[in-house]
Amino acid sequence: MNPKSNRISRPAALVLSRLVPAVALVWAAALRAEDATCQLTVHADQPGAVINPNIYGQFAEHLGHGIYGGIWVGEDSPIPNTRGMRNDVIDALRHLRVPILRWPGGCFADEYHWRDGIGPRSSRPKMINTNWGGVVEDNAFGTHEFLDFCELIGAEPYITGNLGSGTVQEMHDWVEYMTSDADSPMANLRRKNGRNEPWKIKYFAIGNENWGCGGDMTPEFYADQFRRYNAFIKNYPGNKVARIACGPSDDDYAWTDTVMKIAGKRADGLSLHHYTVMDGNWKQKGSATQFSEAEWFAMLSQTLKMDELITRHSGIMDHYDPEKKVGLMVDEWGAWYDVEPGTNPGFLYQQNSLRDAILAGMNLNIFHKHADRVQMSNIAQMINVLQSMILTDGPKMVLTPTYHVFAMYNVHQGAHMLPTDLAGPEYRFRGKAMPAISASASRDAQGRIHISFCNADPHAGVAVACRLVGVSPSKVTGTVLTADSIGAHNTFDRPGAVSPAAFTDFSREGDNLTVRLPAKSVTVVEID
Ligand code: AHR
Repeated sequence: MNPKSNRISRPAALVLSRLVPAVALVWAAALRAEDATCQLTVHADQPGAVINPNIYGQFAEHLGHGIYGGIWVGEDSPIPNTRGMRNDVIDALRHLRVPILRWPGGCFADEYHWRDGIGPRSSRPKMINTNWGGVVEDNAFGTHEFLDFCELIGAEPYITGNLGSGTVQEMHDWVEYMTSDADSPMANLRRKNGRNEPWKIKYFAIGNENWGCGGDMTPEFYADQFRRYNAFIKNYPGNKVARIACGPSDDDYAWTDTVMKIAGKRADGLSLHHYTVMDGNWKQKGSATQFSEAEWFAMLSQTLKMDELITRHSGIMDHYDPEKKVGLMVDEWGAWYDVEPGTNPGFLYQQNSLRDAILAGMNLNIFHKHADRVQMSNIAQMINVLQSMILTDGPKMVLTPTYHVFAMYNVHQGAHMLPTDLAGPEYRFRGKAMPAISASASRDAQGRIHISFCNADPHAGVAVACRLVGVSPSKVTGTVLTADSIGAHNTFDRPGAVSPAAFTDFSREGDNLTVRLPAKSVTVVEID
């Protein structure tokens, strides 16, 4: 008997009997004595907004080994590569179906001058990367390399322009350089540098964190600047640019209000940045792998703040944009810890554990719930930086638990979200409580239903009685990610310590499905 199985918020049988009494008895019999119980109703008869595939977006900044070593090794490298970009990483990202990739920053974007990154590499000027370790950036990876990389992995490019220290002319020229097919100076310069066809650039951000590293601006000043820069970003024939305004940090609702008021009608998107930092203590963020249950609880309970932030920022946006034309782009999010011991503090290199997998799954469930407003998210960052998908060390590469969650969840890309009602147990720790289970559901174009679950409780399995309104399941399959310990993580020596496995611990009774989620796990089930 699990000692925590009495932590159910309401007796399962009571809740079940309120649903459909006869069915409830069958369900109750299907539950095991050792499981906590949970009831999930999936309203498959009420499909909601489409989950924009771009919610599964990534972010690659010129920061530490995010680009150099992580993507770019150069054409002469002994590491197998395609035009300088490592093949193992390309393969892993193709498998992940990355819909969109944000670049070149981050804070780097507002000190980046794109002309430094074109033309023969040997003559590209160098610069100091003042934000990230003060290292010398040689600009080997520039516009052509980034857009080539996007084509190689099949991702849409999302470019952040330099509003903080760049000119209006510079931003105007960059868009012309990339997207114009005219006989014009910028398009001809692109041709001279080896690219005849213009690229399609659908998403362009006008600055990054302009309330901070991007220029320390007030929202009024930024909103006016947005309008000015925006006026000179042109849609050349065959290309239409969605313009993303710099949005708030965390709960800065005043920023959202002012930018929406002054510039909202001209923007297609507004960004939101929110990192999960333990107790909001940026000086002591804790280790990514060596942590106690208190730290596990803190990170997973605090990451739920994302739901409140989206709800409140969306509420303000609704006031100015009731038709929800302006997307909320959560273009930086994830867990931020202290760097791994012995690494450059400016490189933000951190390991990635089962805790991060669950944290990622919980946030993706939140984004699904807000699919009507959240049109993009970009976890920070794709390789070797913060909560990454991939870690590299010279020729070695390893996939993180967070990678596996993205691979499991990407069945939701482009599907219709399905509303859910969840009544389940709490995970309690030292007098504090959080919901043990987070879930979301969607229906894809083939009519398949996917439900993704996170169980944050590190001790107790939870049996979820799923009521699928409007669906009779004929076939159920699933995948689960869990491990023996809360700090489990993948290393170059043990790359499979946290890896997905087939999920079979479910049973069907008529139209009802009971899934038994292991403690500390992420599970995705597919229902045909
Ligand atoms: O992702 C790391 C940094 O965090 C980004 O450069 C910046 O935009 C944010 O503050």
